[in-house]
Amino acid sequence: MDVQPADQVLEIGCGPGAGAEAICAKLETGKLFAIDRSESGVDRTKRRNQKYVDAGRLVVRQIDLATLRVPVKRLNKVFAFNVNLFWVRACDDEVALLHERVVPGGAVYLFYEAARPELVPNIVKKASENLLRGGFRVSVVEQKAPPVIGIIARR
Ligand SMILES: C[S@@+](CC[C@H](N)C(=O)[O-])C[C@H]1O[C@@H](n2cnc3c(N)ncnc32)[C@H](O)[C@@H]1O
Repeated sequence: MDVQPADQVLEIGCGPGAGAEAICAKLETGKLFAIDRSESGVDRTKRRNQKYVDAGRLVVRQIDLATLRVPVKRLNKVFAFNVNLFWVRACDDEVALLHERVVPGGAVYLFYEAARPELVPNIVKKASENLLRGGFRVSVVEQKAPPVIGIIARR
């Protein structure tokens, strides 16, 4: 994701908060807005990253992406790790929300652990279709060890 110190970042489905921790460590004037629809995900991310919350670098909210209201006008980067919604169903409303809020030149990064390689072609196909239909340009990257795929959607 090549996080820059001034980036405005949204994380969807922050869960235990490890992703938020890695991103916040790279931000200076930038901010991370992390959402999870589950209360436990929000609590865990806050607890793990209290110092970033206190510093005003991280805001964590219990919200479903479908009802997102981001308190920043312009997002450079959006990411999600192991959040299935983008490939298990049509998600035109959610993708449209992201397209509205990501600045031209910004991107949405969807990462999936490829622990079950037989699922990868379908994940890539379905997620790419959803993002293309929402007006993004899509590319795919793959890391072998540990196995992770990244679907990158540029605005
Ligand atoms: C498998 S967990 C991954 C958590 C974390 N990203 C990680 O890799 O450790 C998926 C998380 O996404 C959240 N989630 C799924 N769909 C969501 C949605 N539509 N809006 C917000 N959060 C969502 C779930 O509540 C869950 O915490």
